[in-house]
Amino acid sequence: MASVSVQVHTSPSGPVRPMNVLRDLPQVADLIELCFSSTMDEDGQSFLQEMRRASRDNNFLRWAGQVMDSASLPMTGFVWEENGRIVGNASVVPQNFKGRKISMIANVATHPDFRRRGIGRALTERALQHARQKGAKEIWLHVRDDNPTAIKIYEDLGFVERTRRTTYYSAPDALLPTVQDATAKPVTVSKPNPRDWSLQREWLRRAHPDELNWYSRWDWDELGPGLWNFLRRSMVEFDVRQWAAMQDGKLLATVSWMPSMRASNALWIAAKPDGDASGLRSALEAARRELTHYRKLAVEYPTGEMVGTIQSAGFTPFRTLIWMRATS
Ligand SMILES: CC(C)(COP(=O)(O)OP(=O)(O)OC[C@H]1O[C@@H](n2cnc3c(N)ncnc32)[C@H](O)[C@@H]1OP(=O)(O)O)[C@@H](O)C(=O)NCCC(=O)NCCS
Repeated sequence: MASVSVQVHTSPSGPVRPMNVLRDLPQVADLIELCFSSTMDEDGQSFLQEMRRASRDNNFLRWAGQVMDSASLPMTGFVWEENGRIVGNASVVPQNFKGRKISMIANVATHPDFRRRGIGRALTERALQHARQKGAKEIWLHVRDDNPTAIKIYEDLGFVERTRRTTYYSAPDALLPTVQDATAKPVTVSKPNPRDWSLQREWLRRAHPDELNWYSRWDWDELGPGLWNFLRRSMVEFDVRQWAAMQDGKLLATVSWMPSMRASNALWIAAKPDGDASGLRSALEAARRELTHYRKLAVEYPTGEMVGTIQSAGFTPFRTLIWMRATS
């Protein structure tokens, strides 16, 4: 167990107080697990494990104790405490991305026995206020589309929906579809032709808007042709694989894979917005065939677009997130 002495500050504003990293992590982890267990994916479970590990790691706690009042912690936040028990939480994750000062509000959770008393709203409001005080110019959060209570709280506090994105997963043992349209023109799948890069890039940026690149950290230029990228892929451990579906010499869609630390391997789709579905389906199927040794593949795409096509390639919708933004 950690043997670091902890100074607890009582908040004059009642049960809302800043999260104390030295002492609160186990209780906050328990609360997050209780409130999100039914919707949590493997990345969420890893996050919880890391939180619990950090709460027992003396080196981390010593460092956290030193930087607690500065802006260096990767996550801060607020808790609602009643009789020594944490029953509400809202985390704030600051980011500096390409000169943009961004804060993300996450893990908003109220213990089921304490809901509908204004705790979730008060904690979100406090987190928002904190992010603004710290100079964040953009404050983001995401919420599942089937969570009207949370959406209402966020809208009331000034968050505005910017985009909706659906995540699909393909289980490793999901069968590859065999149904083909015999009347359709043949589609071939190969490596992308450098000639088509500007088109691919345009479709990638349409499907994965720059506004959210601080979150996923995608940098499409790494997928493109050119000497620098060639050297990077051949000299440095940076593997990229791509599948381009062509019909009559024209690009229909591409699917790209890059290494990732996440539990699932993400495939990045670039597809002609009003294009023929068979191109995207063929590229996705080719990717699945080659990447069979990866446990799980994930696709994230604007909600409502290409749904049938993505599903027909063996992917199942997992969740839809609404991305909401408040300004300073
Ligand atoms: C979403 C969540 C955090 C809301 O927490 P909460 O503390 O119940 O939130 P609030 O009490 O501030 O507001 C919730 C509702 O209670 C109502 N309410 C607030 N004070 C109230 C009171 N004194 N009496 C009755 N109702 C009240 C609010 O108007 C709101 O009503 P609505 O659902 O009709 O819009 C909670 O349901 C939760 O933990 N869910 C699981 C995790 C989750 O989904 N988190 C959000 C992730 S984005």
